[in-house]
Amino acid sequence: VAPSGYPGHMTRMENKLTVMILAAGKGTRMKSVIPKGLHLIAGRPMLGHVLAAADNLGASETIVVVGPDMENVAAYARDFSSRAIIAVQDNQLGTGDAVRAGADKADKAPGVVLIVFGDTPLIRAETLSEMVTACDKGTAVVVLGFEAIDPNGYGRLICGPDGALLRIVEQKDASPEEIGIHLCNGGAMAIRAENLDALLAKLTNDNKAGEYYLTDVVHHARAEGLSCGVVQAPEADIQGVNSRADLATAEAEMQRRLRLRVMEAGVTLLDPESVYLSMDTEFGQDVIVGQNVVFGPGVSVASGVTIKPFSHLEGARIAKGAEIGPFSRIRPGSEIGEHAHIGNFVETKKARIAEGAKINHLSYIGDAQVGARSNIGAGTITCNYDGFGKYLTEIGADAFVGSNTSLVAPVKIGDGAYIGSGSVITREVSENALALERSAQIEKPGWAARFRAARQRKKEGA
Ligand code: UD1
Ligand code: MG
Repeated sequence: VAPSGYPGHMTRMENKLTVMILAAGKGTRMKSVIPKGLHLIAGRPMLGHVLAAADNLGASETIVVVGPDMENVAAYARDFSSRAIIAVQDNQLGTGDAVRAGADKADKAPGVVLIVFGDTPLIRAETLSEMVTACDKGTAVVVLGFEAIDPNGYGRLICGPDGALLRIVEQKDASPEEIGIHLCNGGAMAIRAENLDALLAKLTNDNKAGEYYLTDVVHHARAEGLSCGVVQAPEADIQGVNSRADLATAEAEMQRRLRLRVMEAGVTLLDPESVYLSMDTEFGQDVIVGQNVVFGPGVSVASGVTIKPFSHLEGARIAKGAEIGPFSRIRPGSEIGEHAHIGNFVETKKARIAEGAKINHLSYIGDAQVGARSNIGAGTITCNYDGFGKYLTEIGADAFVGSNTSLVAPVKIGDGAYIGSGSVITREVSENALALERSAQIEKPGWAARFRAARQRKKEGA
């Protein structure tokens, strides 16, 4: 199961859907050199969450509005979807101005333009889909609303006595009565494509912030006699990320969702709140995950795997029935075979560990292949790096590497070979051979007794 966070594709046939993602804001409150949209939630940039939602809606066109110095944001969007269209907003004059920049790039065919903020990563595709449907059915402007426990900072939705949406007031411009309203603007807005340009043309920056507010579109639509509606979502889905504290809140909510999703799919999490998942973490059935396990991006875990506490995995594939941990570090490029065991304080990187192999204690296995059923003793180190290049260690099947062995790559150990403990292996070992690299053991009979007696006499001053 892939806990994508979104349902399957919702395909749209009749009408064109343009999704426009606004990501040109400076994100000053993040205090970061990284643009806000590239900060990660569950291992995926915030912008990626919104792009994924757009994909799931079956958008015919996705436009991402970025600032002039945001080539990295544009590159990420293009990388995510080769069809993403980038619009540059030259000056950050407000959300309305950003939509204008995006609208310049939009195909003007009839349909719906759905505007989503790049800093609202928890928004659900279902909610957006509901907005698009309402717009499809004829509502000219559909706003995403939510009941805020603390509405501070959000635009307030002003509704008439019949509940119809009349306009949106930004907090800075709100009267004391309006400040008291808890029904707030969640940021997303669906507008019928044929009305978009005319409504944008009416926006002015005559307000406290001196910005072109997208939210004024509602007021102008009403003045034209167009219908406006609200689709509501729970506050937890709306969480906008403006600061590092907001980022942590959004991360917590996303982790909560992902944990629930994997448990529903048949994974046991012994202490869910201590397990961290990525958007793309994949699990088979009957996986057991112990306490304090972190799944970085790019991990897939097949059925029947047990991952014991305090393990950290990223960029790895774990095959059926394998056992990982406690305290294992599985780094990118690790492929752990069926029923293999990786134990405590073992680090693997770019390593193919075949079925049934065991690396149980205190090892570094990097740029390596370990054959089926081989046993890698405690403290075995692949010396893969000489300060310039990385080299491969190839260990055959059914080999036995004694404890505290250094394997200086490039090096090969044949099938069924034995390596004596404490060896530094620099040359190929042929199959079924014993390789030893250490000086012969010497023994001096009675030496210890004589030594002790001599020291004792000296201490007593004899
Ligand atoms: C906005 C809404 C507010 C709503 C809130 C929900 C307006 C005027 N206000 O306020 O009603 O309650 O979101 O979170 O729309 N952006 C640009 N170019 C700009 C300015 C912003 O691309 O010139 C982008 C930002 O990158 C961001 C989004 O638009 O993704 C929202 O901008 P932000 O400044 O966070 O708006 P809020 O003050 O949160
Ligand atoms: Mg915001």
